[in-house]
Amino acid sequence: MSVHNPDIKRVTTHTLQELKSRGEKISALTAYDYSMARVVDAAGVEVILVGDSASNVMAGHETTLPITLDQMIYHAGSVVRAVKRALVVVDLPFGSYQGNSSEALRSAIRIMKESGAHAVKMEGGQEIRESVVRVLSAGVPVMGHLGLTPQSIYKFGTYAVRAKEDAEAQKLISDALLLQEIGCFGIVLEKIPATLTKQVSEQLQIPTIGIGAGPDADGQILVIHDMLGINKEFKPRFLRRYADLHTVMLEAIAHYVDDVKTNDFPNESEAY
Ligand code: KIV
Repeated sequence: MSVHNPDIKRVTTHTLQELKSRGEKISALTAYDYSMARVVDAAGVEVILVGDSASNVMAGHETTLPITLDQMIYHAGSVVRAVKRALVVVDLPFGSYQGNSSEALRSAIRIMKESGAHAVKMEGGQEIRESVVRVLSAGVPVMGHLGLTPQSIYKFGTYAVRAKEDAEAQKLISDALLLQEIGCFGIVLEKIPATLTKQVSEQLQIPTIGIGAGPDADGQILVIHDMLGINKEFKPRFLRRYADLHTVMLEAIAHYVDDVKTNDFPNESEAY
């Protein structure tokens, strides 16, 4: 296990490109608040995504659709204040960029200006081409997101694996090439067959970051609450749990309740 040296220089989009070029995998995790982001950054993760999964894990919504641009900016600002090394990427939330490219640009600029983040992520390919081009033209780095794109959940109807059929796989490949051509610095590939991830990652010069996309993406990302076992109900096959924080926290809090009830806490040394 390695814990990262905080003196090391900041991760940029160029660092990610270098990592891909030398065959070193990229580690990415989500974070939504200051305290968690400090730990994630200190552990040496290269990319911290302020994902719109905040809508699920922070706010308790069923989907990512309800979270607002203001709420994303609040989460992003908290993360940026904590981070010394990682590249901070922020999701443009549902409804803040699909409508037209001017709105996309306004949303991206608000995120960059008000939170201090380093890049934004947008879901989709050809359909959002104009918006991606407009955001990039303002000098805002954009990460793409293809495969299972949770902002389109009501179109898909299910969180099942995407692009198993040839037509959808071909569209994903051409969308990935398009996003690279217009200037995205990386692409998240979510819940697609491992063979397709391998094919896309080999064809692209820019890095791919997988979630439920097998071992051949150039990097991996997980939602922090899932990998730490804070949220125990969500158990997809792709998720590896690195801790059982739900149990640790539950036991600690139950212990505290017990100590308060039995007058054990606070004791003399804990009082003034
Ligand atoms: O919002 C999010 O957490 C994401 C990751 C699952 C990639 O988009």
